[in-house]
Amino acid sequence: MIRPYLTTTRGVLFDSDCIKTMRLLRPEIADCIFADPPFNLGKDYNSKFNDKVEQAEYYDWCREWILEGTRLLKPGGAFFIYATPEIAVRFAGFLNERLTFRHWIALSMKGTYSRGKKLYPAHYTLLYYTRGEPNTFNGLRTPIPACRHCGRDIKDYGGHRNKLNPEGLNLTDFWEDTSPNRHKKYKARKGVNELKLIIPERAILISTNPGDFVFDPFGGGGSTYQAAEMHGRNWLGTELYDCHYIKTRLTESFPVSVNRTPNFNIMDLFTNENSKSKVLRGRKRKSL
Ligand SMILES: C[S@@+](CC[C@H](N)C(=O)[O-])C[C@H]1O[C@@H](n2cnc3c(N)ncnc32)[C@H](O)[C@@H]1O
Repeated sequence: MIRPYLTTTRGVLFDSDCIKTMRLLRPEIADCIFADPPFNLGKDYNSKFNDKVEQAEYYDWCREWILEGTRLLKPGGAFFIYATPEIAVRFAGFLNERLTFRHWIALSMKGTYSRGKKLYPAHYTLLYYTRGEPNTFNGLRTPIPACRHCGRDIKDYGGHRNKLNPEGLNLTDFWEDTSPNRHKKYKARKGVNELKLIIPERAILISTNPGDFVFDPFGGGGSTYQAAEMHGRNWLGTELYDCHYIKTRLTESFPVSVNRTPNFNIMDLFTNENSKSKVLRGRKRKSL
């Protein structure tokens, strides 16, 4: 049956299909879900993954993992989904079935090249929903933006500059200080659009506190797990292909944490029926 590919003191990764795994999990285990799914754009993931199926099939699949995800959210938990605007409007429809809309966060894209009869898409979307009223909302601050050439303020604060909090501006729903993807030089995993760490990091910091539980069904290069680990959140992940990239990344960043028994009981994440699986029972107290 299902066995962890990797454990750390804070997390567990399964090299398995996200929907199959989610179905085995207990409801209401996650304080935050962060998902950056494949976009069905025919991208070569450098793995066996087929990123081009019929549109209807793609959206049926997405509806399924999104609704499974809502089942795993604790009341007050947060669901973030990263997508292109075109896909995000469809995802929003699925999320609206169960959750409460909080924000359409726009992450600016650099570039302006021509897109035929379309405008250049200058932003990606991070949907932010919660299951009812949020349990946790930590307001974040960003540095006051300054010109990188002369160091002066970029914005005009209408005579109220001296009233700004020296710790920075309140984070808004428009993130222009990060590009969506990690530069290929810094990627843990070739072929995968790896997010800049700051994206899952902000989502986690806004919606959880240390010790809370974060789930990311699409591990990719492991950005969410790295952010969770860095900030003392527990995490659960699934990734269908090439999990060794995630293992390498986490081992480099958290050598003391990797291959240790998590500070939570993995079996508690699964429904009774599934936690009776021999493999999981055998793993209960062992270091992996
Ligand atoms: C866009 S990438 C995620 C990148 C990740 N957010 C990061 O920053 O590293 C999407 C990932 O989903 C994985 N994937 C695709 N189908 C899956 C499935 N059914 N279950 C689990 N993972 C899947 C792909 O292999 C790919 O690594």
